[in-house]
Amino acid sequence: MTQMQSLAYQTLAGLAPKPVRGDVPQVIKLPRPDLLAGVPLMAALSLRASTREFAATPIPIDTLGALLWAADGVNRSISGGRTAPSPYGFQEVDIYAALPNGVYRYDPPTNRLILKHAIDARNMAGYQDFVGTAPLDLVYVVRTSKLLTVPASQRDTFSAVTAGAISQNVSLFCASAGLATVVRGWINHHLLGDALSLNEDELPILAQTVGFRIAD
Ligand SMILES: Cc1cc2nc3c(=O)[nH]c(=O)nc-3n(C[C@H](O)[C@H](O)[C@H](O)COP(=O)(O)O)c2cc1C
Repeated sequence: MTQMQSLAYQTLAGLAPKPVRGDVPQVIKLPRPDLLAGVPLMAALSLRASTREFAATPIPIDTLGALLWAADGVNRSISGGRTAPSPYGFQEVDIYAALPNGVYRYDPPTNRLILKHAIDARNMAGYQDFVGTAPLDLVYVVRTSKLLTVPASQRDTFSAVTAGAISQNVSLFCASAGLATVVRGWINHHLLGDALSLNEDELPILAQTVGFRIAD
């Protein structure tokens, strides 16, 4: 990001985690999505846009389940194929969900969220003011150990394309479901590594804030 581009995004500091709110389940079983819900694809494409103002309203569990399935859920049970493509089907990008009641990793095969860290890390998921108050921040994390057979010169590009496909799935789901979202590359990789309790081979590369629009 150039200095001009970063200046265009409003910032706010305060990057310490907050105590969690509400129950902190170890595992959250997600409902299956309604495959007939939302507006048609062409209408969703006509609505897709970045939004940087969010209501604090929590995202209902049905919507969260549908959103994560759209992002990178299993859409072919026999092969385990996902809604987003990945190089050689390595599925090297994990989705972390920073929620008010903890940081969770989405596990597509079981369609569950698994607790990684019992902190409210939303405000650590980026530098912009809405990041800590919107109900959900997704962080796309590359498991670099899954890419060892890919030539080193291609690993960054391949994993960025996978994360981009996931984020576009999320953007189109949000457009279809009437949610607001913005994909964000302006993140603190080291801070997120701690906030998400990542291993050394796991690298956060992209984030995406999701929530409801503030009513006009
Ligand atoms: C890779 C990438 C990184 C981005 N990073 C940020 C970011 O850190 N913060 C932000 O507010 N928007 C970010 N954006 C959103 C762009 O600013 C936005 O897509 C662009 O201004 C076009 O607006 P639109 O999405 O409404 O068409 C990013 C978009 C992409 C594709």
